[in-house]
Amino acid sequence: MTEKNFIVPASEFNTQIAGSVNAKSPSNIALVKYWGKTSPQIPTNPSISYTLTQSFTETQLNFAPKKAEFSNISVRLNGEEQPNFVPKIQQFFDRIHAYAPYLQDFDFEIITSNSFPHSSGIASSASGMSALAKCLLLLEEKMLFFVENPLQRASFMARLGSGSACRSLYPGLVAWGKSSFLPQSSDLFAVPVDTKIHPIFTQFEDTILLIHEGSKSVSSTVGHQLMNGHPYAAKRFDEAKQNIGKLLEILQNGDLESFGNLCEHEALSLHAVMLMSKPPYILMMPNTIAVINKIWEFRKETNLPLFFTLDAGANIHLLYPTNEKEKIRDYIEKELLTYCQNGKAIYDFVNFENL
Ligand code: PMV
Repeated sequence: MTEKNFIVPASEFNTQIAGSVNAKSPSNIALVKYWGKTSPQIPTNPSISYTLTQSFTETQLNFAPKKAEFSNISVRLNGEEQPNFVPKIQQFFDRIHAYAPYLQDFDFEIITSNSFPHSSGIASSASGMSALAKCLLLLEEKMLFFVENPLQRASFMARLGSGSACRSLYPGLVAWGKSSFLPQSSDLFAVPVDTKIHPIFTQFEDTILLIHEGSKSVSSTVGHQLMNGHPYAAKRFDEAKQNIGKLLEILQNGDLESFGNLCEHEALSLHAVMLMSKPPYILMMPNTIAVINKIWEFRKETNLPLFFTLDAGANIHLLYPTNEKEKIRDYIEKELLTYCQNGKAIYDFVNFENL
């Protein structure tokens, strides 16, 4: 598949319709991280994520033939008009123009809400952009345009909105980026990981400790850019590529300890390249470090499989198998919630069901 396969001539679409479509899409958490990209949104290394359940975006897209020369876009989040979101949506629509030429013929009203608090520091771009891409596919159906593989097309479009969003189209374990370990993988869209997965990894918890609510000091966009010319970039990309192979092996053989070591190393490598960027930056907070040390202590004392990963932010994702939920939840509530800014966590878990 190449980009050309996704191009559709404007004549294929009847844009003289008005109506509304709705879609819901979850967030995802990367185990092997994507950090660094080339234009247009091509990842510098492959990544694998778990699709989540409780953290999602719901979007309604109202459309009508445009009334003026240029199409109008308005965005409402949780009931409030958000003019500052419009440039991001406009940039997304500009990027997918060749693939969705009908966009310029409509006025759009985007009404969206997240299941998680907007200020929680949880990135809404993965769930938000994938929900919007799903809406576009539904709009295409209303224009009687059908493709053989709508999820792949939605993933291709979502990627151009936000890289990690392309993985949110599929449940379970999802890969994005060409990898020699996954023959069906692509830089252009995500694919479900189709190897046999050990049952221990099919029921997994992700408790998100909200260490710091609010926006972060350096955005992901800037973070990706800082990987250009980064002195350690080549080493990082190489290691991530190898880690895909290692993770796939672990996912098959059910080795929890190696899983935890690999996920934690990936998370710390992501933050290490931030520390070594020029200019440097730190997204972890003192409580992020305190919790990491607590997790390592807890593991040493109890031998229970509680691991962590990090996004590009201060919050901690606690990873543990569902069959150990009782004991680990108890520890989280008694010992870890106190490190959260408002004592809050999101008890999410992996979704292997059809989305
Ligand atoms: O999709 P973006 O541009 O928000 O970047 C996401 C980067 C990480 O969340 C840190 C890693 C990943 O693979 O999701």
